[in-house]
Amino acid sequence: MRYRTALVTGASKGIGTYFAAELAEAGTSLVLVARRVELLESLAGELRERFQVEVEVLPADLTDPDDLTAVQERLTDPERPVDLLVNNAGALTTGPFAQLPLDGEIRQLELNVMALVRLTHSALGPMVVRGRGGVVNVSSIAGEAPTPYSATYCAGYAFVTNFSQSVHMEVAEHGVHVTALLPGFTAPGADGPRIQHPGQVVREALGALVAGKPLCIPGGRNKAAAAFARLAPRSVVRSVMEGVASAGAPTEAARP
Ligand SMILES: NC(=O)c1ccc[n+]([C@@H]2O[C@H](COP(=O)([O-])OP(=O)(O)OC[C@H]3O[C@@H](n4cnc5c(N)ncnc54)[C@H](OP(=O)(O)O)[C@@H]3O)[C@@H](O)[C@H]2O)c1
Repeated sequence: MRYRTALVTGASKGIGTYFAAELAEAGTSLVLVARRVELLESLAGELRERFQVEVEVLPADLTDPDDLTAVQERLTDPERPVDLLVNNAGALTTGPFAQLPLDGEIRQLELNVMALVRLTHSALGPMVVRGRGGVVNVSSIAGEAPTPYSATYCAGYAFVTNFSQSVHMEVAEHGVHVTALLPGFTAPGADGPRIQHPGQVVREALGALVAGKPLCIPGGRNKAAAAFARLAPRSVVRSVMEGVASAGAPTEAARP
């Protein structure tokens, strides 16, 4: 791995902890961001001990403007350059859009989309000047198809996937890569044909970033689902997704 310092959002739980561990094992110093400081401190202690790397804890609610500004300032601090940003923090709301509290939907978009856009912007400026760096934007396979009962989540990640690839095309010539990661259903201890282990997802994502790829769809089943969503007629995709949502199948959007 060629990164010196990575800032990982959503590092207190789930996929973010696997990004942190994989990077620490490769000798990358870390800045860990999430709301729950005690979980971040515990992970930081474990990673310092296991891998002898520097780990900073930066507690922040990325839907809070002041906290978000603090994370942006950390990314642009010239004294402590960050050469890898992993925008992993995210939230999922499910239910019929018209009946869900609007504030929760807006907050989800502020986290999954607007915070990611702001942090990507802050990170890329100094990276482009230095001529090196990388950004992994964790999106979702759910962004590939319209899905009832997770309308904002799916639409938000359609934006993230498209945005990340567009920006990648702008900065690649400056030695900076942006990779959109589109996991499907991902959970530890539940490896199988329909569910991927987060460690595997993270390794595929970092491999894609290092290889300069703008898009990473981990796992054969997710690749096939994405190809179907892109190539099939919209009416077919909509009726499949209606069936999937009403059957309560373990799609990514039905993750715990
Ligand atoms: N797991 C899946 O099947 C799957 C599939 C596709 C995409 N994804 C995406 O992958 C990412 C990680 O998923 P996951 O399953 O690992 O999620 P998770 O276990 O729910 O963890 C989410 C992380 O985001 C942090 N977070 C939530 N709200 C935050 C806020 N307002 N400010 C700062 N941090 C916040 C949480 O920490 P705190 O609560 O401590 O703040 C936690 O560390 C998410 O973006 C998710 O949408 C997941």
